[in-house]
Amino acid sequence: MRFLTIDKVVPGSRLAKPLYGAQGVVLLRENVELSEAVLARLKTIGYTGLYIEDEISEGIVIRDIVDEGLRLKTAARLEDIVNQNGNLAEMKSLIREIVDNIIENGDVEINMNCLWGHHEYTYLHCVNVGILAVSIGIKLNLGRDNLIYLGTAGILHDIGKKCIPVEILDKQDKLSHEDYELIQKHPEMGFEILADFIDISSVTKVGVLQHHERYDGSGYPKGLKGEEITLFGRILAVADTYDAMTSDRAYRNAFSPSEAVEYLMGAGNQLYDSGVIDVFIKCVTVYPVGTCVELSDGTWGIVLRNYRDCILRPIVRNIETKEIIDLKNDNKYLNICISKITV
Ligand SMILES: [Fe+2]
Repeated sequence: MRFLTIDKVVPGSRLAKPLYGAQGVVLLRENVELSEAVLARLKTIGYTGLYIEDEISEGIVIRDIVDEGLRLKTAARLEDIVNQNGNLAEMKSLIREIVDNIIENGDVEINMNCLWGHHEYTYLHCVNVGILAVSIGIKLNLGRDNLIYLGTAGILHDIGKKCIPVEILDKQDKLSHEDYELIQKHPEMGFEILADFIDISSVTKVGVLQHHERYDGSGYPKGLKGEEITLFGRILAVADTYDAMTSDRAYRNAFSPSEAVEYLMGAGNQLYDSGVIDVFIKCVTVYPVGTCVELSDGTWGIVLRNYRDCILRPIVRNIETKEIIDLKNDNKYLNICISKITV
């Protein structure tokens, strides 16, 4: 199987994984043939990409770090909470399930396409920030309770934005000074909203308050520096920036996972905690399994496996000859690299 953006899926392709609707209910079962009408309908309800089964990707299996139905169900409960008709206890039990899923799948690389390339649903992005934060937290040896507090902070990090007019959040033109000042209040607004929830831990609330603080003191609301920012605040800053960069915005298109990773590597130690960035790099993949790539010698291949300690040089299969190309360990490929992602 491999992931394709929905525009690239040819009618008649077979779906490789079930598709879920916004409430986490199965919408289409795997192996269904995708007609032109079905693809058009999926686009209108917000799907941006799909897993398909084809000859190029034969034998490739991509595992989700968290079940997609569970992610969508959590996102739907978050939307209920934001609209003030949600049940926090129910959402907390979903967050516990997510954390247990990630702990169980500890060795599974986070395939960024699985999380970010799939659906435009805003609340799903918040859940993804929680998943990424928990994955970083596991590598930093946090215990289960702390992971649940961290995941909750990730999922609720932007709850303060509900107090900001949508016209400002979605503005296509340059933001005015006043708009920008108002947007910068959302971490404090989120903190105030959560203050009313006595069963949300204070470390979660402070994490939400600090997710826009930056390691060099250039962030907001308080301009805290270095370890004045809590570990949760430093982790959420990285997870949230990754999410923001890899999502389309009203004023720009999304960056690719590799561009976002490169930016974070470059900005580490200045804007972000370099210890957190080091761990983040071990959680993500630049070229997720199933990605079609072009090598510097012109060969077209598909990524079969990644190396955690060498994220730019995975094992690739030549699409034409099926030859296996181990970019990390095979000496004959030492002067060859991946030059670009293709479709
Ligand atoms: Fe934010």
